[in-house]
Order: sequence, then C-alpha cells, then structure tokens
Amino acid sequence: MNQAKTFERYTVTTALPYANGPVHIGHLAGVYVPADIYTRYLRARKRDVILIGGSDEHGVPITIKARNEGTSPQAVVDKYHTIIKDSFQEFGISFDIYSRTSNPMHHQTASEFFTKLYNDKAFEEKSSDQYFDEETKMFLADRYITGTCPHCGFEKAYGDQCEKCGTSLNATDLINPKSALSGNPPVMKQTKHWYLPLNRYESWLRQWIIDGHKHDWRPNVYGQCKSWIDGGLQARAVTRDLDWGVKVPLENTQGKVLYVWFDAPIGYISATKELTPHWEKYWKDSQTKLVHFIGKDNIVFHCIIFPAMLKAEGSYIMPDNVPSNEFLNLEGDKISTSRNWAVWLHEYLRDFEGKQDVLRYVLTANAPETKDNDFTWKDFQTRNNSELVAILGNFVNRALVLTQKYFNGKVPSVNALSTQDQEVIAEIATFPQRIEDALENYRFREALRELMNLARLGNKYLADTEPWKLIKTDENRVATILNISLQIVANLSILGDPFLPFSMEKIRQMLNISALEWEKAGQAQLLLQGHQLGTPSLLFEQIDDAAIEVQLQRLQDTKKANQLLQFQAQPAKESVAFEDFGKMDIRVATILEAEKVAKTKKLMKLTVDTGFDKRTVVSGIAEFFEPEQLIGQQVNMLVNLAPREIKGILSQGMILLAEDADGKLVLIQPARAVKNGSEVK
Ligand code: MF3
Ligand code: ZN
Repeated sequence: MNQAKTFERYTVTTALPYANGPVHIGHLAGVYVPADIYTRYLRARKRDVILIGGSDEHGVPITIKARNEGTSPQAVVDKYHTIIKDSFQEFGISFDIYSRTSNPMHHQTASEFFTKLYNDKAFEEKSSDQYFDEETKMFLADRYITGTCPHCGFEKAYGDQCEKCGTSLNATDLINPKSALSGNPPVMKQTKHWYLPLNRYESWLRQWIIDGHKHDWRPNVYGQCKSWIDGGLQARAVTRDLDWGVKVPLENTQGKVLYVWFDAPIGYISATKELTPHWEKYWKDSQTKLVHFIGKDNIVFHCIIFPAMLKAEGSYIMPDNVPSNEFLNLEGDKISTSRNWAVWLHEYLRDFEGKQDVLRYVLTANAPETKDNDFTWKDFQTRNNSELVAILGNFVNRALVLTQKYFNGKVPSVNALSTQDQEVIAEIATFPQRIEDALENYRFREALRELMNLARLGNKYLADTEPWKLIKTDENRVATILNISLQIVANLSILGDPFLPFSMEKIRQMLNISALEWEKAGQAQLLLQGHQLGTPSLLFEQIDDAAIEVQLQRLQDTKKANQLLQFQAQPAKESVAFEDFGKMDIRVATILEAEKVAKTKKLMKLTVDTGFDKRTVVSGIAEFFEPEQLIGQQVNMLVNLAPREIKGILSQGMILLAEDADGKLVLIQPARAVKNGSEVK
C-alpha cells in the first residue's frame, strides 16, 4: 500500500471520548487498542512518535447528562475524566499525554484558532431562525433536539447526527423535531452564528482525498468521504447558543460557545502543546505523519471538517491516514451507553484482574476492521482458552519448563542442525517483515495472526521433534531443539510487545532478559548459550464457565431492566357492547394437576376444578412455571371458549394471564381464596 514515503516523525491521535460515561469495549476495539498497538510498534522501531488522547468535555451530551443526574457539567466531566483516564492507564494504552478539553491551554488554543480564522475572513456570519424551547428559554442545538432522520427514517436522530445511518445533520433537517428538554415541538427564533463554508474547500478536498487517497485509505473511509463530497458541501455553523464550552472570542457574544466539533479536534493540538514545547514539528512539518484513529461515526469530522479548518488556518499538515473501524456489537446487539448495553473497561479490569492482554487480544483478533463484528463472552472464553492458553502460553511454558528440567534453566548449546532445524530458523526470519507490513498498513488482525503463527511454529516444532522422548538417548539433540525453541520465545517477546505488553514483560522475566531491540527480531541467537533463565510460570490461565456466566447473567439483567424501562402499555382496543362482554363466562378454578406436554417447549397440560366439573386445559406457560408451582393455585379461566385440540389434547377453556414487559406470563389470581366456580364479572 502506502510505503513509498518514509516520515521523520508520527503524530497519532485517538478520538477524544465524551466525558459523559465510561469507556467500553466498542471504544477500545475501534480506536484505542489499534492506536496503542501502532504506537508501541513505532516506538519499538525507534521512530519519533507521540500518542495523543484526552477527554472531550464540551458539547450537549455532557450538559444533558448533567441535567439528567441533577448535577453540573463540571461535576460530570470531572467524574468521568478520572474513570476514563485511570482505566486507560491500567489497560496499558500508552498515551504520551491524556489531556482534557476543559484545560485552560485548550480554551486558549481553540480561541486563538477561531480568532485566526475570523481575522482571515474564513467564516461567514449569518443570522437565521433556529429552534428554541419556549419552556426552558433555550436554543436547541445538536442533541437538545431529536426527530426523524430524513435519510433513513430513524425516529431518534439528533440535531447534529443520525446515529443509525451516520449521516451528519443540521437540526432543521429533522422531520417532526422535538425538544429533548421539554419534549415540546420547538419554535423558531432568530440568532447569529459563524459558519465554515465547506463549499470553498470542495475542489481541494476532492483532489486531496478522491484523487490522493483512493488506494491507501480504507474503503469505508474513502467511500464515506467520496459520497459526502459528491453530495455537495455546505457551510456548517461552528458556534452554538449554549453556556458550556469555549466562549466565542468576539465582542457581544454572550451565551455563545464554539461548537464542540470545532473545539474538540483542536484538543489534539492543545494536548501536544501541553506535552512538549516542540509541538509545532508534530503538526506543521511535512515530514510528520499525522494519523487519526477514530470510530466510523467520526469520519466526516476528521476527513472533511477538521481538515478544512486546518487548511483554512494554513500552517498545518493534513492527516496521512484515518484508519476508522466499523462498529463492534455485543452479543448481537448494538453497544449503547444509554441502554447500558456494553462491557465497561473499568468493570472488566475489576472482574478480570491482571487479564488486560486477554481483552487486548480478543478485541484485536476480532477487530471490526472491514465490517461490523460481534463480541460474545463465549468467543472471549474460547480465544483465551484455545488460543492464548493452548497456543501461545503452552509453547512458552513447554520451552521453559523443559529447559528447567533438563538443563537447570540454562540456555543449552546448539549442536548439529537438522534440515528441520534449518527450516524453522529460516522461517523465524520471515516473521518480522510480515508483521511490520501488516502494522504499517493498519491491518492489526493480520499482524496478530502472524504473531500467533510464530507460536504455532514453535508448538509444531516441539511436537515433531519430541525432546521429552529424545532426552533418554540424545541429550545433544535436545539441547539444540530447546535452544531453538527458546529463540522463538525470545522472538515472540519482541514481536508480541505491541499487542500484549503485559504478557511479553512476563516472558522477559521468565527469560531473565530486558527488552530486546525490534531490529533483532528474526534472529535465532538472541539468547546466548549458558544464559540463566528465570522461573517459569503460566503465561495465561484458563477462564472457566462460571466467570463467563457471571457476565452473561449481568447482560441478561440489563436486557430485562431495559424492557421494563421501555415498556409502553398498548392503547385500548375498540369498545365492545356490555352484552358482548356478558357472553364471556369467566370463573375462578383451582389447578389440580400440571405436566409439561412432551416435545414442546411452551405447553403445559393442566387439570382444573371449575366448581362444576373437572376438565383439561392446555396453556402456553411451561417456560415460566414448574408443574409443582402451579398445583393448588387458583386462577381465572374463560370456561366457555369453544374446545379445541392442541397437540392431540382437547383443551377446554383458557387460563387468563398477564404478559409483563419482559415477555413473562404471570397468573391472574383472586386476592384471597374463593370458591371454585365463582363468577368473575
Ligand atoms: N467525543 C467524540 C465522540 O465520542 C469524538 C471527538 S474526536 C475529536 O464521538 F476529534 F473531536 F476530538
Ligand atoms: Zn439516518
């Protein structure tokens, strides 16, 4: 792909997460894990690289959260910034700086950026009618307004974006707009704002992206940009009527702030300024490669709007690539902060202490690089047990334990090489290049697969040569085999470091070495004969069913809670005449016997006492009750329903049940015991 040009330095940015909730696996898989792998790899290659992150602390998502929780926006961002920052650190995302957009440095940088564009006449100034909520006396920007997306028909699109189809919107595009504050339809009120006329940059964008990055940007990124540009670009407001954000640095602009998508990407620059006085070379030197790691809902902001801002400013470089991932789903459902349908990083770190690398591994092996993917706990368990434990951990452990056993933990000598030894040594030498190519081109899944292939090579070598059998007859041969195996382990510790930094550190301890240079990878003399190894221990542990059950149960509980929360009673049916109701003969009856109907999941055969006879009823409640829970219960029953045959059983009547929001059926019972046959009227 794009390897012709080499760069002197790298600026790697990660989308700044909104500080209105913790970080979840979707964020990690889409942005932070690949960015961290990429950066760790570049550092290993001794390139000059910085990894930039921080919290996005402005914008309507924050103020809405504060309103919902009855607290201040500042309290919200303080809380989540801390949670996010700490969990990233514990997870090993190796930011050079993790900043926040409420920092004074950022306010100053964003203000100056705006002022420069203002002075250069890069904005258009327009007064227009905007949505206003009369009840709360507020202009309704962005997420303060919801309505139907004009593109895909999604009914809960926001005033700035539809989260269903990803389209970026203006509030006035929404069909049936409603205030998110009062729920009322808004009125129109005039207000003045500054706009970035994207149309002025159309031909430049066309040249830069459509002509320039057709082959090195991912198809999903390129495709979104192309359809945006082809659709024609319009001026976008870069200010808002809100009181939370970077104040508009102009006279007479009380109550106006910069649009969050104007200030937030400038946050990358502010953070770099905070990190180093030499920040300019990371942003303004054409020898710097700028790479934005983002999720797909951020593409237009990073490929069109922010570049147009940088272009308007005039002294900045453009991103060389914007490796955006698709979405990661969770157990078949879209991850959602508001529905609490997520695996939260800080909770994972608590539940799976010391297992950072397991999640890093699973999210990379299953990364949504080219299409949406699904995270399931079962897959998490399988990848841990049959890949990390059975392939990587097993190989490392065997090589070390056998050396411990046969050679007192000292690296044995290499003696005469067999053909297979030579082949294995030659193959080891091919891995660095393959992994480098994949990483340089943002193919992280492939790079990780290659790493595992190196461990597979080691396992196969041991399985083929069987040193545990040879030891009785040919110690020299065993020495050679274990030496080569240990060289593979040392290679793994180099090449695996970007992906699994915690485990590779553990390997280095077991090998009793400090970090080896990347450039040495591929060699088969990394560990010298006679070197004393450390104590072997297990690299990865099995994850048992019980640990997975706990997580699945939590998700089940969430699902139920959501169903209950979202329950909306059906509107009443058409009215019926009193005489029609009178035709229903509803009685209290007692269940005498109950048994599941064989070969069905739902059906239960009941024998009931109606007071005037004993009869059989087939009822669809077997999923919700055990027979013994039903026997002796009084129920309401429609006794004059025409009998019908169900699964060969004649059912005479119908037990009345209520269906709860979660789909569960519940018996309807008299409040105290009454005579069987009592009429319900
Ligand atoms: N907070 C945004 C989101 O979560 C991302 C902001 S990226 C930045 O979608 F470039 F603006 F910083
Ligand atoms: Zn839509």
